[in-house]
Amino acid sequence: MTKPLLICASLLLAMALAEQPSAPNPVAASMRDLPWGDLNFIQTTDSHGWHAGHLQEAQYSADWGDYISFAEQMRAKADEKGVDLLLVDCGDRIEGNGLYDGSDPKGEYTYDIVREQAIDVITTGNHELYQEDAAAREYNLTVPNFKDKYIASNLDYINPKTGKQIAMAQRYRKFTTKNQGLRVLAFGFLFDFTGNAKNTVVQPVEKTIQEKWFQEAIREDVDLFLVAGHVTLHGPEYKAIYKAIRSQNWDTPIQFFGGHSHIRDFAKYDSKAYALQSGRYMETIGWMSIDGIKGKGKKDEKEVEPRASMSFKRRYIDTNLFGYHYHTGLNETTFPTEHGKNVSTMIHKARKALKLDHSFGCAPKDLWLNRAPYPGTDSVFTWLENDVIPAVAVNKDRKDTPRLAITNTGAMRFDIFKGAFTKDTTYIISPFVSKFVYIQDVPYTSAKKLLPLLNSGGPVFASADIPVSHLAPPEQMSIRSDIITPVSPADTYAPPNAQAPLMSSTSKPDLVPGYTTKDDGGDDGDDTLHSPISFYRVPNCIQSAISFPTEGEPETVDLVFVDFIQPWVLAALQFTGQSYNASDVGVYMEETLTELLAGWIKANWKKDC
Ligand SMILES: *[C@@H]1O[C@H](CO)[C@@H](O)[C@H](O)[C@H]1NC(C)=O
Ligand SMILES: *[C@@H]1O[C@H](CO)[C@@H](O)[C@H](O)[C@H]1NC(C)=O
Ligand SMILES: *[C@@H]1O[C@H](CO)[C@@H](O)[C@H](O)[C@H]1NC(C)=O
Ligand SMILES: *[C@@H]1O[C@H](CO)[C@@H](O)[C@H](O)[C@H]1NC(C)=O
Repeated sequence: MTKPLLICASLLLAMALAEQPSAPNPVAASMRDLPWGDLNFIQTTDSHGWHAGHLQEAQYSADWGDYISFAEQMRAKADEKGVDLLLVDCGDRIEGNGLYDGSDPKGEYTYDIVREQAIDVITTGNHELYQEDAAAREYNLTVPNFKDKYIASNLDYINPKTGKQIAMAQRYRKFTTKNQGLRVLAFGFLFDFTGNAKNTVVQPVEKTIQEKWFQEAIREDVDLFLVAGHVTLHGPEYKAIYKAIRSQNWDTPIQFFGGHSHIRDFAKYDSKAYALQSGRYMETIGWMSIDGIKGKGKKDEKEVEPRASMSFKRRYIDTNLFGYHYHTGLNETTFPTEHGKNVSTMIHKARKALKLDHSFGCAPKDLWLNRAPYPGTDSVFTWLENDVIPAVAVNKDRKDTPRLAITNTGAMRFDIFKGAFTKDTTYIISPFVSKFVYIQDVPYTSAKKLLPLLNSGGPVFASADIPVSHLAPPEQMSIRSDIITPVSPADTYAPPNAQAPLMSSTSKPDLVPGYTTKDDGGDDGDDTLHSPISFYRVPNCIQSAISFPTEGEPETVDLVFVDFIQPWVLAALQFTGQSYNASDVGVYMEETLTELLAGWIKANWKKDC
């Protein structure tokens, strides 16, 4: 299998099979079983609106309705075994797919779809907070949809009516599991995020853990501390929380769930403290099982029984029906639940209402974010830099003025597959409401230094609270900065946790290319055996020089850039000796990057596939 198969089954048949009608059929593969324990978890994180699944990639083609069927079948199995199963979601449920971004206001269907899953612990990501209206919807809709399951340990909301700062949701949740009677105390954190809209307040984790309520919570006698959050597993935030809990409980098991960097990752903090992170975009759902917790709660019966035989095991499940059937031991007739099928239908109706399959044109070939070298003919960024941006970054009144147009690579979120380029595709690759802004007549001697500064980072940005890593795609966060040259396969150069997405065509014939994760648990975490994929580093920013004189250098240029990177641009300009501030920045284009992109596709790839 070299390319994702696009099989358009009839609506009727597809509905019987669940998943979305246009989703490709899942592909059979060699599988690893799910390990069960006393307490088991399924985690989702960074789903970014991909609740319809991946309609161009067979191995991630299951939708949120299928996930609901899977969870319901697995809960039934847990009940049979007399063990517990909890569902966790760690945020960034929005932005990144037409199902969320394609409506006005955004998320017209997403909140109703997400709420159908019975999630036990749900937290907030940074994407829920970038825009004021999104943060308000989180408070207005998601929090009440999940009630006591929603946890906001370090996040406040500013009530627009009263102006009062209030907790987004409860700070922690204490509950007892259904079958094993385990006493769990759960927190829900967001990393030390500073880019939130002004109707929310994110309190740094390091400060939150000094608060009285937290200090009291970690002194509670429980069987397990559960720390869910939109936080990377190796960052300072979880280190601080781990230390704080351990300072009071040297022996109580702690299970962390993380997110944000879009990778599959598993970390061991000590022999009873582990962390799992389950990738991105509904490509992965994470499975975690803990065995041997039992006993601690029933002190009178099992006095000081040591938990020497505790074990923590993880599995990363590719989200497709082949795997769901395999892990439940069910088939296409017995697997889907009525509830799951209903939700698949809801999603299908939403996609139709949003006209997400409306085609703008036809992509002549695959273009990759990280799976092809940059610069190069198969790189999304080379295509943007050479073809798209020079054509679209045009302000009528200044079209002949030489300009440098700078875009951060993180503005692009996904690969482009050969074939139909739909309304959905535009949101998938460029979900943000970013626009081009500019500073007029910047001396070229300074302007030309900008790109190298943005791409090298270093002292320019050291004092400001603006790490340049925020400019690149989040997948790159976990890759060492000293590695610049592309190497293949990913795992030969990347740190244990770096991940490469998707599939490619160069691999052993019997394995489908996909995730080949290495983490603190070894290299047997993926449920599906894959051949590895190449992963190439890309710069933080790319640049197009437009309307330049054919000879010599211009005296001054218009410095055009995506509004998201303004703080970095101003800091870098300062470094070159040019003192500009926000009042010097004007709107260059009224359209969003997404709209400009759609316009270019219509004009240049207009063929019907
Ligand atoms: C949230 O709810 C408040 C109060 O009902 C309302 O005024 C506001 O418009 C809502 N905001 C959004 C974005 O839905
Ligand atoms: C599915 O499993 C059921 C129960 O084991 C069996 O009766 C049925 O024939 C299977 N269906 C298919 C399509 O394999
Ligand atoms: C599924 O949808 C049908 C038709 O709308 C409804 O009658 C039924 O109650 C739903 N079932 C579940 C479990 O949601
Ligand atoms: C920006 O700089 C100009 C001088 O170059 C100054 O007059 C203005 O007050 C500054 N604005 C802000 C918001 O700092």
